[in-house]
Amino acid sequence: MSKLDSLKKHSLVVADSGDIDAVARWKPQDATTNPSLLLASAEDPRWRPVVDEAIGRAGGDPDGATDWLFVLFGREILKHVAGRVSTEVDARLSFDEEGSVAKAHRLIDLYGKIGVRPERVLIKLATTWEGIRAAARLEREGIRCNMTLLFSFPQAVACADAGVTLISPFVGRIYDFYKKLRNVSDIPIEEDPGVASVVRIYDYYKKHGYPTQVMGASFRKVEQVLALAGCDLLTIAPDLLQKLSAMPGETERKLSVEEAKKQNPPRVDLDEKAFRWEQNQDAMATDKLAEGIRRFDVDARKLGKLMTSLAAAVPAK
Ligand code: E4P
Repeated sequence: MSKLDSLKKHSLVVADSGDIDAVARWKPQDATTNPSLLLASAEDPRWRPVVDEAIGRAGGDPDGATDWLFVLFGREILKHVAGRVSTEVDARLSFDEEGSVAKAHRLIDLYGKIGVRPERVLIKLATTWEGIRAAARLEREGIRCNMTLLFSFPQAVACADAGVTLISPFVGRIYDFYKKLRNVSDIPIEEDPGVASVVRIYDYYKKHGYPTQVMGASFRKVEQVLALAGCDLLTIAPDLLQKLSAMPGETERKLSVEEAKKQNPPRVDLDEKAFRWEQNQDAMATDKLAEGIRRFDVDARKLGKLMTSLAAAVPAK
């Protein structure tokens, strides 16, 4: 048995990829996409038919073409997963509650036009205060959300209080931050601050009985994945899935509800002011959230330009 097979006994394994072939190969339960992953897929000649279909369905509107592209990649991915696909809202709406709700409605509406039910989609939103408020509203309407760019405990607390379906606490980008800060080439797994962040959030949620699912994300090495075996879900890029599948042996469970219930983290209440204050106190989380929004926006703009230039070459259907 491989470490990957064995990991599946403890956590739901998700593919972190916009590559339809990779998703088909690894047959995960769910899949996650983001603007950077979908830019890479849109630039790949293998997926040109999906790009052309998006352009055709948008009838010459470049913004519409990008929305369609996200949704059509979601549809293709869903052919290979039994569960859900995560589709991200434009990073430019990260501080716009109304705009985020409207974009989520648009994506769910487009999915509906091609026969994909809302239960199979997680709307991915940046974990800003506005993103969390938008998610709270969407969840009340039955639209399920996945909160991304989550680097801090206060972000996780506010998401649970908002009743979101799932959070994606990032491991690798926290690890990247502290490696750079400490000017080291690695941080041992026992001291990994990204892993510690997910463990703290998981224990807090389970101890206090929050139903919000925890999906560890953004991994840099297999050790980080294995250190979180038992987390509700883990979203893993194809290169790490490959490595895990080539490692023989049992994966030991590291996180469990039973162990979490033995911890005693006090319950935290955060209103908007407290959330903003606590988030701002954490330099890593503040920097990484801001940088993450900028990076996703850069890739979304590149994708928009690509769609515009390709649309010029493809007659609208
Ligand atoms: C998943 O939902 C995230 O978008 C992804 O794990 C981010 O990973 P990265 O830090 O490698 O970009």
